Amino acid sequence: METTLFHQITWAWIALAAVTFAYLLRRNAPYGRHVQAGWGPTIPNRLGWFLMEFTVMVVFLMALLWEKRPISTMVWVLSGCFLLHYLNRSLIFPLRLRTAGKRMPLIIALSAIGFNLMNGFLLGYCFANFVDYRSDWWTDARFIGGQALFWIGLAINWHADHILIRLRKPGSTGYAIPQGGLFKWISCPNLLGEMIEWTGFALMCWHLPAFAFMIWTIANLAPRAIAHHRWYKATFPDYPAVRSAFIPFLV
Ligand SMILES: NC(=O)c1ccc[n+]([C@@H]2O[C@H](COP(=O)([O-])OP(=O)(O)OC[C@H]3O[C@@H](n4cnc5c(N)ncnc54)[C@H](OP(=O)(O)O)[C@@H]3O)[C@@H](O)[C@H]2O)c1
Repeated sequence: METTLFHQITWAWIALAAVTFAYLLRRNAPYGRHVQAGWGPTIPNRLGWFLMEFTVMVVFLMALLWEKRPISTMVWVLSGCFLLHYLNRSLIFPLRLRTAGKRMPLIIALSAIGFNLMNGFLLGYCFANFVDYRSDWWTDARFIGGQALFWIGLAINWHADHILIRLRKPGSTGYAIPQGGLFKWISCPNLLGEMIEWTGFALMCWHLPAFAFMIWTIANLAPRAIAHHRWYKATFPDYPAVRSAFIPFLV
């Protein structure tokens, strides 16, 4: 594929993220606590997470390796960060969830698969065909700063997901007010961590598909964090007033 066409497709994909963001600010994605009747057939929650998130690794690796070009160490390092996140999200995270009997609409799983197919393809194809990192990229401020942000975001995301998962006893499905770590100041550190992570990834990759992925992540998760925060305040009368949705003291 020509570079120009690839960039046009990626820009169109970014435009769609902006539309999705506007939509999600008005309507909550109907899974987890926001699940509602009327979204068609459903599938078990755990299976949904596996299907949604495993696809991205398959497509990413196919796009990266399809044409059998030599892959530089730098590209392997960047790809390794991406794959590590998705190994956790598709295999470990769903197995740890305390989500007995919960289901999600099939349409949500399918739309997340579509989202992941596109991002996995754009990233893998770009790494395979359009990037050529200079040898001094290892010491470039964008790579070093991006790495720092990526690992900080990953740590925040994993830690907060761990606290949330352990709020429930095995077999129960209710909700409680989370405590500890960044929950002191915000309702959704897991979602903030994920947004920081992919911002760091975009910086260290420094190509359009990685920025598209960052924008999509923010478009999905910022409205979800706002919706979760609103839900906490409406559900728990004693919800800590100091907490914001996902940016301390701001949003
Ligand atoms: N990159 C992206 O675009 C993207 C998109 C979506 C999600 N993600 C990531 O996927 C992960 C999960 O997302 P999510 O939206 O499902 O997160 P979430 O709503 O915070 O839920 C995470 C898990 O903890 C449980 N949980 C949350 N709050 C709880 C509470 N107060 N009491 C008891 N249990 C609670 C949830 O149960 P229930 O499911 O029963 O509510 C779920 O099993 C996050 O790390 C997020 O960053 C990424």
